[in-house]
Amino acid sequence: MMTAPLKGIRVIDWTQVQSGPSCTQMLAWLGADVIKIERKGLGDPTRTELLDYPDMDSLYYLQLNCNKRSIELDMKTTEGKEILTRLLETADIFVENLHPGAVDKLGFSWEEVHKINPRVIYGTIKGFNDDSPLASVKAFEPVAQCAGGAAATTGWYKGEYDIPTQSGAALGDSNTGMHLLIGLLAALLQREKTGEGCFVQQSMQDAVINLCRVKLRDQLILEHTGVLKHMPQYPDGTFTDTVPRGGNVEGGQVLGWCYRCKGWEKDPSAFVYIVLQNEMKPFAAAAKAIGKPEWIDDPKFNTPDAREKVKEEIYAAVEAYTITREKMHIVEELGKLGVPCGPVLSMKEIAEDESLRKCGTIVEVDQPGRGKFLTIGCPPKFSNYIPEVKPAPALGEHTDEVLKEIGYTPEEIVSLRQKHVVCK
Ligand SMILES: CC(C)(COP(=O)(O)OP(=O)(O)OC[C@H]1O[C@@H](n2cnc3c(N)ncnc32)[C@H](O)[C@@H]1OP(=O)(O)O)[C@@H](O)C(=O)NCCC(=O)NCCS
Repeated sequence: MMTAPLKGIRVIDWTQVQSGPSCTQMLAWLGADVIKIERKGLGDPTRTELLDYPDMDSLYYLQLNCNKRSIELDMKTTEGKEILTRLLETADIFVENLHPGAVDKLGFSWEEVHKINPRVIYGTIKGFNDDSPLASVKAFEPVAQCAGGAAATTGWYKGEYDIPTQSGAALGDSNTGMHLLIGLLAALLQREKTGEGCFVQQSMQDAVINLCRVKLRDQLILEHTGVLKHMPQYPDGTFTDTVPRGGNVEGGQVLGWCYRCKGWEKDPSAFVYIVLQNEMKPFAAAAKAIGKPEWIDDPKFNTPDAREKVKEEIYAAVEAYTITREKMHIVEELGKLGVPCGPVLSMKEIAEDESLRKCGTIVEVDQPGRGKFLTIGCPPKFSNYIPEVKPAPALGEHTDEVLKEIGYTPEEIVSLRQKHVVCK
């Protein structure tokens, strides 16, 4: 039997851009009824960001707002506030990610919402925690990556590109949304016991810092020993008092690197990542495969500590093997031998990958007015539930429907429209 885990849970979603919407989209995929409040006449700013067709909602919006309902509401009017109050009376979760202080100023702080409905769980995303000196600062993705330790520790470690570097993955935005999701799901279980909702705050800075745990580990090691043997700066380079950028090192003590493959001159994704494990069995398998069986008995190579000292020599030898072969061929060959490895896949390759489509990772959605577009489906896969990825709503598409559900009469809805409290 297919039972949506969050069936019967109602979410009032006053979020925008990526961090908050990524969280509420997951709630919707898990079966919650997500009602998105959007600014009158404008909607979520991403609706019009990076347009690929002039008169259609952007892919940015569509990929983050599937399975939601949209109401267009002027929250700066008395009537708009009354509508939100009535919605909150029916809600389980309220989520917002406006700029610091914005929602409080409009009368919907945690304290106020808790008074309206003590069962409501209140989720909020800000760039920084309340206690931070930066608490009032607005934040976008790179702000969080920079303030969360990711940018300082990512990127190249020598030459003119030795500069803080962002990840292409949305560590500041969607990662924060997933952190908030964990908090909200835990709060739902907690409410089963207490009968009361709670306030769940997730800062973007914290969400990034949480993913930089191993960099804090490195900071402590550096302070104790003065070196980081697993980093490319060891043994020949120098260390300062802080964790340096590590290029493509694996991050633990296993020796990993990203190698050029056949065709790399023209194809920026013709690369493969290969890890040489510490244990002798998988190390020996890799050594034989790349044509270096002599490493197995050579003390210069046959222990993890020894290998750290000759990283550059090892990287060169592995690349002599990879550079003449296709990346997929290498992964097939080494994968069979138990060597951890992975192809560098371009977004084009990911979009076209049949196996990713088959397992619901890449999903095709038929969006009214646009036709089919690709999105990324629900990452966790359940044994008894397959989320159906549905289209994203048009701006205000469900305004009347939702207002009726909370008791507004057709006449009252007409009047709200005449007063421009709601649009569509
Ligand atoms: C993303 C961010 C930088 C954008 O800031 P912004 O340009 O000031 O936009 P906001 O939507 O937050 O606020 C704009 C205004 O719209 C108003 N607004 C929002 N929804 C409204 C509605 N439905 N009706 C009426 N007014 C509305 C807000 O009250 C605010 O008014 P104010 O400036 O008078 O206080 C900011 O919201 C932020 O830092 N959010 C927290 C961190 C975060 O999630 N960042 C996004 C990462 S993807």
